[in-house]
Formats: sequence, C-alpha cells, structure tokens
Amino acid sequence: MRKTTLITGGAGYIGSHTVVRLVEAGHRVLVLDNLSNSCVESIARLEQLTRSQIEFIEGDIRDPLLLDEIFSAYAIDAVVHFAGLKAVAQSVRKPMEYYANNVVGTLFLCQAMARAHVFNLVFSSSATVYGEPARTPIDEALGTGKPANPYGRSKLMTEELLTDLARSDSRWNIALLRYFNPIGAHESGLIGEAPNGVPNNLLPCLTQVAIGRAGELTVYGNDYATVDGTCVRDYIHVSDLAEGHLKALERLHGDHGIHIWNLGTGIGYSVLQIIRGFEDVTGISIPYRFAARREGDIAQCWADASKAGRELGWSAQRNLGQMLTDSWRWQSNNPHGYHAPIAPLLAVAGK
Ligand code: NAD
Ligand code: WQD
Repeated sequence: MRKTTLITGGAGYIGSHTVVRLVEAGHRVLVLDNLSNSCVESIARLEQLTRSQIEFIEGDIRDPLLLDEIFSAYAIDAVVHFAGLKAVAQSVRKPMEYYANNVVGTLFLCQAMARAHVFNLVFSSSATVYGEPARTPIDEALGTGKPANPYGRSKLMTEELLTDLARSDSRWNIALLRYFNPIGAHESGLIGEAPNGVPNNLLPCLTQVAIGRAGELTVYGNDYATVDGTCVRDYIHVSDLAEGHLKALERLHGDHGIHIWNLGTGIGYSVLQIIRGFEDVTGISIPYRFAARREGDIAQCWADASKAGRELGWSAQRNLGQMLTDSWRWQSNNPHGYHAPIAPLLAVAGK
C-alpha cells in the first residue's frame, strides 16, 4: 500500500493550501475534517487545482473508532494536524468547546496514532503561545508566556501535552509549527480563507469592506507605542506556510523528539500599513475609523524564523504585495466563500 499522510482539518484554510503543496510534491494524502468551519466544496476545488482525486473522510478527530478504521485502512506514516477551532472571541464565550476540540481532540488523535504505531506528527501551533513577548523579534528560545484567551491556552496546553508525549517515548517525532499571522490565498484564486460566521481577523474584515459587505473597517487602537500607533504583526502568506509544512514533514522522517519552528517572515507591518498596502495593490479605498484597543491585543510582534531557515531550509518567499493581491483575488472571485450566492426567492420560483 502506498504511504499516506493524514491531514486533519485539510478542508480548512491552511490545511487546504498544504494539501496542494503535498500533492504537488508527490505525497499521497487523506483529508479528515468534520466540516465545522469549512465545506466540501473546498475538496472539489482541491481536485480541480491538483488535477487528482483527493481522498476525503467527513468525521471528527474525537471519534476513536473512526480513527482506528482510518489507520487500519490506509498505510499512514505521518499526520499533519490542523483540525481545531481558532476564533479567539468565540473561545472566550465557549471555552469548553476549545479545550474539547483542540486539547482533547489532539489527545484522541495521538492515542489512535500510537495504537497504529504511527509516530510522525506535524502540529499547527501559534505565536499566541508566546503571550506578551518580552522582546521582538521572537525566537523559539524566548520560551512560552501567558496567552490572553482560552484559544491561546488550548494551543499552549496542546504543545505541553505533545512535549510530554515525545519525552515519554522516543519513537515520537513531533514538529510544533508556530505560525505568526497567516494571510493570502493560493495564486489561482480557487482556494482561500472562508470562515463560517463573522470574521475576526484583520484581512477578512478588510476585504469585507472592499467588497462592500461592510461600510468601514474598525481599527482597534491608535495609541500603541509603535511606528504609527496601530498594532504591528508579522503577516505570512499561507502558501509559504504550506511549504513550511512540507519541509517539516520531510525532516521528521528518520528524526526523533520534539522540534519547534517559528514560521513568519521576520517583518512587522502596522494595521495602517496593511490598509495602505491593500489600497496600493487594488486601487480600492478602505474607509476606516479608530476605536478603543481590542482586549487581549499585544502592541507588536514579529518572528525570528532563522531556526526554520537553518534546520529546514525554509524561509518565506512572498512579500506583502503578493499576500494582499492574492487575498483580494480570492475574495473578489468568491465573495460568498465556497458558497454560490443564494438566488433570490422570486428567481428560484421562476416568477
Ligand atoms: P480553519 O478553521 O480554516 O481549519 C480548521 C479545520 O479543522 C476546519 O476545516 C474545521 O472544519 C476542522 N475541524 C475543526 N474541529 C475539528 C474536529 N474536531 N475534527 C475534525 N475536523 C475539525 O482554520 P485554519 O486557519 O486553517 O487553522 C488551522 C490550524 O492552524 C488550527 O489548528 C489553528 O488553530 C492553527 N492556527 C491558525 C492561525 C490562523 O490565524 N489562521 C494561526 C495560528 C495557528
Ligand atoms: C491583527 C491586528 C487587531 C481586525 C489572531 C490570534 C492568533 C492567531 C492569528 C491563531 C490587531 C487589528 C483586526 C479588525 C483591527 N490565530 N484588527 N480591525 O490578533 O494578531 O492574531 O490571529 O492562532 O492567535 O490572536 O490577528 O488578524 O485578529 O489582528 O484593527 O477588524 O489587526 O487589533 O492589531 P491577531 P488579527
């Protein structure tokens, strides 16, 4: 049987871009996703993009029987684990859902992997585990801090769970990839970020204004000690992240223990610089207004990703202009995400 990489959450934003890159690199992939924040149309788009059939199972990582069936039916030799919930504000309202999906879900997944003697795992972590950083740029030696919300704490707890697991049994090879701020979309405009519900992140909020779904962008805080008073982040193209997963996966085979790699560009941009950059590449004016600081936001952070450069031979290749152009191509080609616009009732009735 051909070796297969299981991709949990592969119908989602970062997972789908990673599926494309792995298939391009010759990997056989199997996607497991419960579609709680994605839809099956993204799998159809992946098939269109890769010109191949993508094996997909709709199901939950917290279903041990399903996981056992999957591991016995396929020759899985590694798991790239994206499945989880990621909306910070929702995590404050529904913390148990975040701990159940993100922490318990990972625990069930690792237990099933161990039963199947599969010990290679790439995990989607986040720069949120650094909390309020004592210095920028942030390198992996800084150590973790105190994340400001249940989402961030679920990522930190999962990192700790995985670290304990790798220490307890030397067969485990685990990569913790700490992403900074993923934006952009595949250059084809066929796949991109399509969150269910109201977006929280800057780029989806900004593109909603650009397509006319929202009248103005709210900029949270203009009194930070930064270049222009607005928060600074390290935005990274999702296709560069996908490449980072490929490199981490290839490095894990034959390795052992736990590895931590930051995936960022090393460059910080303020919210106002993002707005102006978007206006420059699209020619669309973005009305905005300043509001109070958003609770839990840190003033600025960007990555020192040189460890991934040295150890994986990876560095981000796409600049801010490409990130914003690709975000806009995706959003303007797909104003309703993966869903076709709903036809007005009268038109449906043929009246
Ligand atoms: P996403 O919501 O687009 O993708 C996650 C996918 O997992 C979705 O398709 C969802 O349906 C699926 N899923 C959720 N719970 C599941 C479960 N219990 N069983 C099976 N499938 C489940 O999110 P994304 O932006 O692609 O993020 C992927 C991963 O990267 C997440 O773990 C997220 O926490 C992490 N991450 C994201 C960001 C970001 O800003 N997007 C930054 C750092 C880390
Ligand atoms: C960026 C900047 C906002 C929306 C979050 C998670 C983090 C990680 C990435 C998963 C901030 C400002 C935003 C808006 C604004 N996710 N903003 N108006 O907060 O850096 O990180 O996503 O792991 O864990 O916390 O990203 O895109 O939400 O915000 O002014 O309408 O844009 O205040 O300064 P953040 P973001």
